[in-house]
Amino acid sequence: MKDQVNDRTDQYGGSLENRCRFALEIVEAVSNEIGADRAGIRLSPLANYMQSEDSNPEALGLYMAKSLNKYEILYCHVVEPRMKAVGEKSESPHSLVPMRKAFKGSFLVAGGYHKEDGNKAIAENHVDLVVHGVQSLVNPNLPKRFKLNAPLNKYNRDIFYISDPILGYTDYPFLEDIA
Ligand SMILES: Cc1cc2nc3c(=O)[nH]c(=O)nc-3n(C[C@H](O)[C@H](O)[C@H](O)COP(=O)(O)O)c2cc1C
Repeated sequence: MKDQVNDRTDQYGGSLENRCRFALEIVEAVSNEIGADRAGIRLSPLANYMQSEDSNPEALGLYMAKSLNKYEILYCHVVEPRMKAVGEKSESPHSLVPMRKAFKGSFLVAGGYHKEDGNKAIAENHVDLVVHGVQSLVNPNLPKRFKLNAPLNKYNRDIFYISDPILGYTDYPFLEDIA
């Protein structure tokens, strides 16, 4: 979808509409297969790491938010601009507000949220749901911990994205194990 990486010259490259075509075709196909009420999409228009940059990310996000309405999918999940790299927050001049206003389904965000600021974002109607990525990964029973105001495990960045099926994926202690 991003103009810094898409160098196609057919109907899937060039204009914003063309660059978004493939993703929207997938949304349509998935919706037809399982029902739009069971389909969602995750977008990172503002991310620029690993060369995934767009020259006008807000226009890209807004175009997708508006185009998705046609399919009436359940949710649109967007990665916050404040997330620079996983586990890191950064200030960004970009805003998800236009996307939030344009999209008619449930609007989800992720990016460095903790319990308090996540609840605040929902209470202030900036989003419908907040997704906790790293916190869910490193804290089995995260909802229970939030409910009990229990301590959270600390993440270990060295074991993010490694190929071992256990290390860093299923070996963080459960609340019961540390209580
Ligand atoms: C180990 C690990 C693997 C991840 N894999 C993916 C992935 O495959 N696709 C994706 O869109 N995001 C992936 N993410 C990013 C998270 O979904 C999330 O957007 C990010 O961590 C920011 O939210 P958080 O601060 O709540 O963790 C991954 C994050 C971590 C830590």
